[in-house]
Amino acid sequence: MDFELTEEETLVRDMAREFAQKELAPRAKQHDKQGFIDQAVFDGLAELGLWGLTVAEEYGGAGMGNLALALVLEELNAACASTGVTVSVHNSLVCSPLGKFGSEDQKREWLPRLATGEVLGCYSLTEVSSGSDAASLRATAVRDGDEWVLNGTKMWVTTGDRAGFIIVYMRTDPDVHKSKGITAFLVPAGLPGFSVGKKEKKTGIRGSTTVELIFENVRVPHTSVLGEVDRGFPIAMDTLDGGRIGIGAQAVGIGQACLDASIKYANEREQFGKPIGRFQAIQWKIADMSARLNASRLLVRQAAWLRDRGRPCSREAAEAKLLSSTMANFCADECLQIHGGAGYTDEFPVERFFRDARITEIYEGVTDIQRLVIARSLLR
Ligand code: CAA
Repeated sequence: MDFELTEEETLVRDMAREFAQKELAPRAKQHDKQGFIDQAVFDGLAELGLWGLTVAEEYGGAGMGNLALALVLEELNAACASTGVTVSVHNSLVCSPLGKFGSEDQKREWLPRLATGEVLGCYSLTEVSSGSDAASLRATAVRDGDEWVLNGTKMWVTTGDRAGFIIVYMRTDPDVHKSKGITAFLVPAGLPGFSVGKKEKKTGIRGSTTVELIFENVRVPHTSVLGEVDRGFPIAMDTLDGGRIGIGAQAVGIGQACLDASIKYANEREQFGKPIGRFQAIQWKIADMSARLNASRLLVRQAAWLRDRGRPCSREAAEAKLLSSTMANFCADECLQIHGGAGYTDEFPVERFFRDARITEIYEGVTDIQRLVIARSLLR
């Protein structure tokens, strides 16, 4: 078993680390307060080629895989989880399925602009009444000659307000079993009848925007169908296998930030005449954080490695997300406890880690949905 990263993976990880520490960490608090990510960060990510990390080279990307993406996401999220999820969604939930399921024309039309970050992408599945039960979605697409007419409201769309390109899932056959009659469409933002609705006020990852998308008789050509008509649900699920690895990496990044902050504070803060890190109560917290963090990191990398080889990884991706998201919340809780009252103020980034960690157990499938995916694959 070889745990060494390739030279290319090490280079891209180090590049992301430098950018994260120099450009993201100093802005993370501001992103959280202002509710959006600075344009300079979007531009910086573009300069480094990180929007197109997983896009094939022939379409202008870096042609790297899920493992490289996981390494990059660990670094970005350790500094700013709002930026981290934005990059994760763009690569895992948009560029990857387009590269995998798109026609040559679709890929040529969109991937080069997505790869440079000229156009940002978003993934739109969830609705007000279909969250964990994703296949119960109600928004419709009805065929009209060579066009489809899209109607409905989507929710919880990451980057939906900034995205120029949307992969949206619509019901195209109401008469078959619910997961069978769903189709994926590639929709440019700004078509007549399309609008951005409510912007959510969230507990954490506040720099990442989360919005409603409204479709009122939006017309797209038949060539906008991704994959086959009525066969979009498996695309949505396959996409989420990759996305869950990305959120697992996000959780590892947040966990690492919590561990680093805890070690620093435990060495600096003195009580009863010595640094609090000399007390066993603090040492055990730090030891448990480190062990859980590294176990999560290995699971995330294993799932990414499998996906890069085209091997089944639904269970492994769910296990990676389950373990790493609960780990991130554990680490954030312990980190805040180690910081005491100071950690409960915005003087330290700890309270942001605590709020940001919470979402990793919710989006791209709540923790119990990960358990469901794992149990189904074992018990079938
Ligand atoms: N890969 C490919 N196909 C898959 C698959 C996978 N991982 N999982 C399921 N499928 C296929 C099945 O084989 C089946 O195909 P057939 O039609 O050929 O039979 C079809 O999909 C239906 O599968 P299920 O019967 O398992 O579907 P289900 O209705 O029982 O749902 C579920 C399964 C796992 C609960 C699913 O609904 C789910 O993942 N729910 C959570 C949704 C979620 O994660 N939402 C997050 C949205 S994105 C987000 O968070 C916002 C953001 O921007 C960050």
